[in-house]
Amino acid sequence: MSTSLSAKSPLTVRAASASVGAEIIGADAANLSDEDFAVIQAAWYRHSALVLRDQRLSDADLIRFSRRFGELDPPPVNENGKTFVADHPEIYVVSNVVGADGVPIGSLGAGEAVWHTDMSYLSEPPDASALYSLEVPPEGGDTWVSSMEAALTAMPPALRERVRGLRIKHDGTYNSGGYLRKGLTASDDPVTSVGTPHPIVCAHPVTGRPVLYLGRRRNAYVMGLTREASEALLDELWHYATLPEHAYAHRWQVGDLLMWDNRSTMHRRDPFDANTRRVMHRTQIKGSVQPRAYDPEAVRQEALA
Ligand code: SIN
Repeated sequence: MSTSLSAKSPLTVRAASASVGAEIIGADAANLSDEDFAVIQAAWYRHSALVLRDQRLSDADLIRFSRRFGELDPPPVNENGKTFVADHPEIYVVSNVVGADGVPIGSLGAGEAVWHTDMSYLSEPPDASALYSLEVPPEGGDTWVSSMEAALTAMPPALRERVRGLRIKHDGTYNSGGYLRKGLTASDDPVTSVGTPHPIVCAHPVTGRPVLYLGRRRNAYVMGLTREASEALLDELWHYATLPEHAYAHRWQVGDLLMWDNRSTMHRRDPFDANTRRVMHRTQIKGSVQPRAYDPEAVRQEALA
């Protein structure tokens, strides 16, 4: 269904799937009026992910658009430890292309990037990420975004009750392509690996809505449980987090801009042929607060007040 939300903006918003994502039609991300941005922001909090097609953005345009959502984060440390774009250190390049010097121009290669939330191993993880396509392969490399609000709703009440008050340690040793981050020591023991604990059920800091917050599966650990109990509980939670009916799959064309809210979604990428080229530029909007546990009693009291 398409909706035009403002008499002052020509933009149209169309839901991209039943649970997550909306396409903003008619927007030029390099030239947005305040009225246009108000439409985009309302769609953002309602749908948790946005698609703007057919854009022509320089890095400076991408940075300017991203800053409308908040201050930008420095990109994560990648497997090469490099800044990818010298004049724009805010830009993280996601690519399989290898430069003339034999060094990859970006991160994550051509393999699958497994389900994850960006940089959840930080104490204040980024609020959001924006990915803009410069070159795309003829097939493969689709990016999937899944609703963590829908995942939580799909869980049996007894499971929701069981995880309330529990925290997961979010490990950042490997990126979602499975590469060891520069400067970190390889570790595959979830109990002893280095990471930041966050509540499993969080309240979205703006909408207040409850969301499942898992980060990534590798080296995750539910604090206070035995390793076996933690693995069993995580397997159960990941079943609900990765149900295909709660996901939107984005088939890329050059000039697409896809944004996802790291607080209420997870994302993954399909593999693609390593002999083809895929070049994407990504920005990240800095986290404003630490993930906070969802407290239904506080919500009830607020509603009564
Ligand atoms: C990412 O995880 O940020 C990359 C997703 C993609 O390459 O589509």
